[in-house]
Amino acid sequence: MIEHIEGLRLKALQELASVNNATELEAWRVRYLGRNSELTQVLRSLATLPLEERKNVGGRANDVKSDLEDSFKQREKEIALTLTKLASSTREAIDFTLPARPLPSGHLHPITQTIDEMCDIFASLGFHVVEGPEVEWDYYNFEALNIPEEHPARDTMSTYWIDTAPSDNERAMLLRTHTTSVTARVIDGMKPPIRAIEPGRVYRYEASDATHVPMFHQLDGIAVDRNITMADLKGTLYEFARRFFGKERKVRFRGDYFPFVEPGVEMAIECAVCRGQGCRLCGNSGWIEILGAGMTHPRVLEQGGIDPSIYTSFAFGIGLDRLPMLRYGIDDVRLFYSSDLRFLRQF
Ligand code: DAH
Repeated sequence: MIEHIEGLRLKALQELASVNNATELEAWRVRYLGRNSELTQVLRSLATLPLEERKNVGGRANDVKSDLEDSFKQREKEIALTLTKLASSTREAIDFTLPARPLPSGHLHPITQTIDEMCDIFASLGFHVVEGPEVEWDYYNFEALNIPEEHPARDTMSTYWIDTAPSDNERAMLLRTHTTSVTARVIDGMKPPIRAIEPGRVYRYEASDATHVPMFHQLDGIAVDRNITMADLKGTLYEFARRFFGKERKVRFRGDYFPFVEPGVEMAIECAVCRGQGCRLCGNSGWIEILGAGMTHPRVLEQGGIDPSIYTSFAFGIGLDRLPMLRYGIDDVRLFYSSDLRFLRQF
């Protein structure tokens, strides 16, 4: 019996040495000092022993019990101490005076930056920004702009048509091919004097290559007032080019045809790469066309409820993606839309 108690003591102390936290410690206490522990059983069975043995065994068992209880308290203290040490050392490891790690932050896409910059320039010339829908009625994209159903100008802008319900059949919908559709809405809905610009996405059903993508950006504009002339058109667009590209950059105007203006013009900027000498980017001409413009056709004004005998108007439409290409010498428009951060981070 005595040997058994001694063995119990050794085993308990050995196990206690490897106890490292409060949960383990509690489990140990239950196992060796709890109500169902072997030691408690021994103490309970003392009454059945003959007197002499009872004294002997009882004395030893009680010694072991108080030994284990002391060791338990000792271990409890040690564990509590290491825990506080650990806590204070992690507290010291957090240095609240260190500056925070910089958070990764993005920036605006170069096309968005271009839109913002253009809007700033035109706003300073008295224009305000108007937006229109990308899914547009055939009417505003073509009809209202003097491009009826059978007009050949439609062939230059094939687009994506939207399937509409049979009851809506007469009113076809499409993805707008130019932001001039918003100009048509402005003429329809506003009273002169008008100075509006309309930036946005446009769509063409085209294969993509270095200069074409099926979705790109334009910024159209319109001014309607008494006595608006071609001189106002040229003055406004020259000023825009000067502010966007700098004074030195040459600008060229030439006659052109658009069904919704008469007369119509196109404006080109001296090529960024060859400075007018002729190179691959500008097709050896030295110039790159950036916009169409003209005096708004009287029929377009009239159809939108503006009397062309009182008011005249100029309008323009700028191919917006070309501007950052020209400014930075970017030779592939697809780069803007490929989400390649190595490209985008440069702006
Ligand atoms: N919408 C034309 C295009 O996408 C460009 C244009 C030409 C817009 C003349 C105009 C304009 O407002 O007056 O090719």
